Amino acid sequence: MNFDRVAPHYRRLETLAFGQQLQAARCAFVRQTPRARRALLAGEGDGRFLEELLRAQPELQVECLDASARMLALAHARVGDARVQFLQADLRAAAFPAKRYDLIVTHFFLDCFEEDELRRVVEKLSAAATDDATWLIADFHRPPRGWRRCWARFLISLMYLFFRFVAGIEARRLPDYASLLRPHAFALTNEIALADGLILSQFWRRSKKL
Ligand SMILES: C[S@@+](CC[C@H](N)C(=O)[O-])C[C@H]1O[C@@H](n2cnc3c(N)ncnc32)[C@H](O)[C@@H]1O
Repeated sequence: MNFDRVAPHYRRLETLAFGQQLQAARCAFVRQTPRARRALLAGEGDGRFLEELLRAQPELQVECLDASARMLALAHARVGDARVQFLQADLRAAAFPAKRYDLIVTHFFLDCFEEDELRRVVEKLSAAATDDATWLIADFHRPPRGWRRCWARFLISLMYLFFRFVAGIEARRLPDYASLLRPHAFALTNEIALADGLILSQFWRRSKKL
């Protein structure tokens, strides 16, 4: 898996295909997110969400992890490194201190993993999250029925084919990440659907009884 090749064209391709809807999904809860101390943005890409987050939370320290050096370079060029630590790493191999982050963000990232791998990714991120952490997730979604579901199935298959070819991702279908988050005491507390239900932006909150 390597997004370096697609990184310089990522924004243009996204705008061609979806206009501003992906960015709207990323930022849907950025102003409502409770003040956090330390955030982990996993698979952040070119830093457009990062820029909005830094603007919304002037005290926040951010660790921005991505496997793609070119994506990180774009993000760095966009925001500088005053409050951001950029980490080039494969999340599957990365290690984090326990309970370090009170904000986790995985926009259009969880869909890069097969279900078994995603289980381990969610376990790792959950262990790195505090007991009251917020987890923001924007991702593609298949609406439950009708023509929207058929259209979504077609578009999502096309995207997987594209990213398999240009970035070598191994996943082939959208994973059910919700059922993986709940056992780690995360609850879905708010959700916004965009693009006729093709995209969901979700606000998850952890409430862990000690
Ligand atoms: C589909 S892009 C999403 C980028 C951005 N978050 C967005 O909202 O559009 C997936 C991003 O995750 C990164 N990525 C994919 N698999 C990864 C992994 N195993 N570890 C770290 N980063 C990964 C890619 O380099 C890429 O920047």
